[in-house]
Amino acid sequence: MSKLWGGRFSQSPEEWVDEFNASIGFDQNLVMEDLEGSVAHVTMLGECGILEPSEVKQIIEGLSVLKEKAQKGELSYSVQNEDIHLNLEHFLIQEIGQTGGKLHTGRSRNDQVATDMHLYLKNRVIEIMELIRAVQQAVVNQAEAHVETIAPGYTHLQRAQPVSFGHHLMAYFWMLERDYNRFNDSLKRIDISPLGAGALAGTTFPINRKRSAELLGFGDIYENSMDAVSDRDFIVEFLSNASMTIMHLSRFSEEMIIWSSQEFRFIELADAFSTGSSIMPQKKNPDMAELVRGKTGRVFGHLVAMLTVLKGLPLAYNKDMQEDKEGMFDTVHTLMGSLKIFAGMINTMNVNTEQLSKAVNEDFSNATELADYLASKGMPFREAHEVVGKLVLTCIQQGIYLKDLPLSEMQAASSLIAEDIYQVLEPAEAVKRRESEGGTGFEQVRNQLNKAESIIKAH
Ligand code: ARG
Repeated sequence: MSKLWGGRFSQSPEEWVDEFNASIGFDQNLVMEDLEGSVAHVTMLGECGILEPSEVKQIIEGLSVLKEKAQKGELSYSVQNEDIHLNLEHFLIQEIGQTGGKLHTGRSRNDQVATDMHLYLKNRVIEIMELIRAVQQAVVNQAEAHVETIAPGYTHLQRAQPVSFGHHLMAYFWMLERDYNRFNDSLKRIDISPLGAGALAGTTFPINRKRSAELLGFGDIYENSMDAVSDRDFIVEFLSNASMTIMHLSRFSEEMIIWSSQEFRFIELADAFSTGSSIMPQKKNPDMAELVRGKTGRVFGHLVAMLTVLKGLPLAYNKDMQEDKEGMFDTVHTLMGSLKIFAGMINTMNVNTEQLSKAVNEDFSNATELADYLASKGMPFREAHEVVGKLVLTCIQQGIYLKDLPLSEMQAASSLIAEDIYQVLEPAEAVKRRESEGGTGFEQVRNQLNKAESIIKAH
């Protein structure tokens, strides 16, 4: 088969070389964007008087036939035609004859592929933002139901202070809110048209770049043709934003996995999001959470791979840049899948309030309450810390908790302690009283939930 660029060649490459060179195996994902870009380009060529109206009409009709065939899966791509751009041009010429060869006037595959990537990523980022919102909504739903469910709060994975379980969940809402905003901000840099930059230097044809950008719905055009065809920052940025988001999901996964273990039993994941063991009949495994945690590896890998591809590249286009696609496609697929799984998993999980209440009543996470109590009665906090530390040690030696100490024993440690201490030591009391802004106090958590709901509604 002769190449669309075959004029200056006297030998055809062997098939296995074609295969190594080709990107059609994966850039066929861009078929719709490529067709859309071509329609805009040829429309603009017609409006600028570069092509005859009849030629434009014929090409657009040909492109719409190809679109239909693509939707039905009727295009059979070939590696000899290298990539999606040359395959489609080849089909167009087959469809409408030599006029099809006029489509590429004033355009290069270099600005064409960059345009496709911008179009593709813009739409995917918008879809990802929707999915982030769905996870945030699921978090809000569960948090709302558990504002007054008291759970152990941890530092160093050691019991620290009791918290509202809703408050703990809402921490993920805000992480995801930053992710949402990062993706939203990145749209400014994705929503720019490289079309019309040509191979690298622009073109001698009197094209109108703003017009083709407008036809494609882009907000702006690149100011420099060499930057337009060389820029892959928007892909790096996307991979970085995706890495951050999936890192957050991975931390959340880790908590789900721990919480659903026999040792914790704080939550139970729905059957639909769990799997069994082929040998151990009693098992119910949190596979979906584990998979999301595991998939973090490939997303981080794609980010590092892309940065590495770009780091030594001179301007302008280099074939190395064909390596920008598979990692991006895989990241889109992985992140969208993970977000979908997460929304379902959170919405359907069951919170074991009994187990949580048992947990907070059988630990020393109310020790700070006693120290704060003494400090509020005038004892320097450092001294209070020491007094309470000794009481905790006494309890440990006797196998009891602070609330089990008789008043006389507490008063022996400090005469500032009175009968009301037992109320102060209640975990729910400890949580309720933390009303500093952003704290775990019930009112503060409700405040957060109101804000979260108006954020979701506003979008
Ligand atoms: N398949 C190529 C890529 O994805 C398209 C651009 C090719 N340009 C070129 N001058 N060989 O990067």
